[in-house]
Amino acid sequence: MTLTPALTGNHPLRPLPFNPATLSGLSERLIVSHHENNYGGAVRILNRVEQELAGITKDTPPLVVAALRERELTFRNSKNLHEAYFGNLGRRGDMSSTLARALTETYGSVGRWEEHLRLTAMGLGGGSGWVILGFELDSGALRTVSTGNHKETLSNAVPLLVLDMYEHSYHLDFGAAAAKYIDAFWQNVNWEEVTTRLERARLAQQALSSGS
Ligand SMILES: [Fe+2]
Repeated sequence: MTLTPALTGNHPLRPLPFNPATLSGLSERLIVSHHENNYGGAVRILNRVEQELAGITKDTPPLVVAALRERELTFRNSKNLHEAYFGNLGRRGDMSSTLARALTETYGSVGRWEEHLRLTAMGLGGGSGWVILGFELDSGALRTVSTGNHKETLSNAVPLLVLDMYEHSYHLDFGAAAAKYIDAFWQNVNWEEVTTRLERARLAQQALSSGS
């Protein structure tokens, strides 16, 4: 297994995995702007921060290193979460029975989980943050969490479904009407991708828990 160097400073901008003109209720202008400016900005800044970190020496002031490490974590997580967000958009498939069963076991019903997701997202409306359905690698539990910035994600969890609630993800189309954006997001979920992530996370959990 070849490990990636820690500070390459050359992360590529991943193209959108769907045609942005084909989403339902989310405009091409919104998606392209979000992808190029917000996600793209995160990748470009992360690359610059990695280049700066690659050059630190014993003479670099600790406060400079600390500031660079903070920016590194912010923009690495922003990059990863945006890639997961765009990856679970594109409107492919219906919710699989695998995912529906997991959500029902965890929340009582799929509808009850959807309620949790929507109410959690509305809690961030007018502010900013992420809503994430995550799979905990230690317990195997599904968790629905919200974060106020890029750095507050649940540790030891694999994101299954990611909803961007920063205003840049909806303001162009909906102004402050966050509920309309959440409706449109729901219409465009790529359930095939969410199920694939669940299946992979379960394999990872089995591998991590074997022998313990
Ligand atoms: Fe975003």
